[in-house]
Amino acid sequence: MKTVTLKSGETVPALGIGTWKMGVGDRDEAEQLRALQAGIDLGMTLIDTAEMYGEGRSEQLVAQAIKGRRGEVFIVSKVLPSNASRNGTLQACEASLRRLGTDVIDLYLLHWRGSYPLSDTFAAFEQLKAEGKIRHYGVSNFDVADMAEMQRLNPSVACSANQVMYNAADRGIEFDLFPRCLNDRIAIMAYCPLGEGRLLNHPVLVNIARRHGVGTAAVALAFTLRLPGVISIPKSARTQRVIENATAASLALTPQDLSEIDAAFPPPRRKQPLAIT
Ligand SMILES: NC(=O)c1ccc[n+]([C@@H]2O[C@H](COP(=O)([O-])OP(=O)(O)OC[C@H]3O[C@@H](n4cnc5c(N)ncnc54)[C@H](OP(=O)(O)O)[C@@H]3O)[C@@H](O)[C@H]2O)c1
Repeated sequence: MKTVTLKSGETVPALGIGTWKMGVGDRDEAEQLRALQAGIDLGMTLIDTAEMYGEGRSEQLVAQAIKGRRGEVFIVSKVLPSNASRNGTLQACEASLRRLGTDVIDLYLLHWRGSYPLSDTFAAFEQLKAEGKIRHYGVSNFDVADMAEMQRLNPSVACSANQVMYNAADRGIEFDLFPRCLNDRIAIMAYCPLGEGRLLNHPVLVNIARRHGVGTAAVALAFTLRLPGVISIPKSARTQRVIENATAASLALTPQDLSEIDAAFPPPRRKQPLAIT
């Protein structure tokens, strides 16, 4: 498994698992659990969840999936901006820990910017870290200006990651956010790396996949994983698809593949607004 080294020196798998929309509606939760466990078995041991997902149900499913194997996984969860006051963040983290059935979250993110001062949220993150309730913290949906403000107002902030939308069709971050984060040793977590599934019928990606004898999802994911410091977190509620997604970790796209993708999805030549789902 390709890895990404966090600012602290710790390494995490570059290919993880997303869980948005898991535990929602009448979908087959037993199959969702099998899919999560298959991902862990295949080395996708970084699991991304959030208090928002299924109003906590996603975190509960993660708890079931990792029962007896907490030591194997790196759990990422997120506090909602509406809870991100100093006290609200502390309480939200406690609730997430309970639902996750663990005493520590490996990486805790502010889900997106809200109205509470960033310094309050970061003070809570620092307290949680000092108390051993989280190991690393970071942000999500922060563009360059947000990162600059965060670093100006909180120069000692130990931001480990910024989780943003990134896939072949949404490449805006390559222009400015990605190089900035790489330089600051802040990992980029690519969400919607399959374009929420929409990329999977694109003829260029289908054709590249055929050449390599892999599924189209592997090509879409390998595209995100080609950049250093990028962690990709595809979500699938189906075991067979998780198995297919895992093959991305060993797929190296060729210069020809990449130039075909560039022709179909041109890289950004100027600043673009941050893509948000
Ligand atoms: N921080 C944020 O604001 C934010 C926002 C969005 C997402 N996220 C995180 O990023 C994760 C990934 O993003 P996402 O779930 O929105 O989108 P995604 O991973 O790009 O795509 C998920 C969709 O693709 C389908 N899919 C997955 N693997 C497939 C395969 N091999 N073949 C065909 N279809 C496949 C899934 O369906 P099935 O499940 O039915 O297989 C699902 O509909 C989320 O789950 C969440 O953890 C974070």
